[in-house]
Amino acid sequence: MTSDIFSIFNPGKIKINGELIDFTIKDLEILENLGSGAFGETKKALYRPKDLVLAVKYEPKPSDIESVKMKYLKTEIMALQNSDIPEIVTYFGMTFDEGKCVLLMEFMNSDVDSLYKKFKEINPGKWFDERALCIIAVKLLKALDYLKEERRVLHRDIKPDNVLVKKSGEVKLCDFSMAAIFERSKSAATTKDTGAPGYRAPERFLGTTEDDGRFGVRSDVWSLGITLVEIARLQHPYNKRGVKSFEMIVNIVSKDPPFLNLDESFNNGYSKETVDFINTCLTKEVSNRPYYKDLVEKDFYKKNIMAEDNNAYMEKFLQNFF
Ligand SMILES: Nc1ncnc2c1ncn2[C@@H]1O[C@H](COP(=O)(O)OP(=O)(O)OP(=O)(O)O)[C@@H](O)[C@H]1O
Ligand SMILES: [Mg+2]
Repeated sequence: MTSDIFSIFNPGKIKINGELIDFTIKDLEILENLGSGAFGETKKALYRPKDLVLAVKYEPKPSDIESVKMKYLKTEIMALQNSDIPEIVTYFGMTFDEGKCVLLMEFMNSDVDSLYKKFKEINPGKWFDERALCIIAVKLLKALDYLKEERRVLHRDIKPDNVLVKKSGEVKLCDFSMAAIFERSKSAATTKDTGAPGYRAPERFLGTTEDDGRFGVRSDVWSLGITLVEIARLQHPYNKRGVKSFEMIVNIVSKDPPFLNLDESFNNGYSKETVDFINTCLTKEVSNRPYYKDLVEKDFYKKNIMAEDNNAYMEKFLQNFF
């Protein structure tokens, strides 16, 4: 490895409250499995020297410095490393262990996919809590807008599994393993087949790029819309597990977007403002779809992000599930 990669990864160091400490894998005690995805697994662990509970993500160590996998890992770490807003999961450091990359992150209690499924189980016949939905929506949007504006990063894998919640009421975006950095990655950013198919925008199947010639920003806005509709309806709009993927792609590309229906929503407690906000993310034609910068100008965003007791509300709401 070159020093360049080492200077980005800084392996064997853990940064806690601004203090950079040397650590080895022996300092970690694995407590339980948290989840596994396409390439790796995530575990809960105790960092013994500080008695701190962490989430530890194991990913295969790229064998070749020029490989695509290495580019992805580099982007994941670069995106996490200095993203110091409360809406993005805190990153502590990384190391290598037996052919794996080990990323250390703040421990969160659950993801939004598990959360809405639990909600559905406990509250049969009810739709999701509107205030909680709005808080998740604006926090997610804040994280995505920050990444785009401040870090030049596209997430490209927005879905409820990649949004985490903490007992204390915080809501945070995680999983940058599909992310791309704008300027230097036109080729990576134009890759159409990143992210779960059920969250991909129509243009990603059709191969049409955005009107500014760059793939991505507004494709992620679509994924945000699908994520919010899924939480609002307590099920994925395309029934991602039930429908064969070819059928699902035909639906995404050729049918109307899976808008929240206002009448139905009113009866179930979602207001017009919430429904309109979610539906605007699902504008089918990419050139008409809003950017994050348009969404953060909306009253819906301003009102909900500014509300002072968001974390307290979420903390209370989450008590029903933990
Ligand atoms: N910081 C964390 N605290 C608690 N649980 C976490 C944390 N990070 C991830 N998890 C759990 O592990 C699951 C998988 O983690 P993550 O999304 O980071 O990786 P992945 O989905 O395996 O990656 P990939 O998308 O590359 O396959 C999450 O959906 C979540 O349930
Ligand atoms: Mg994930």
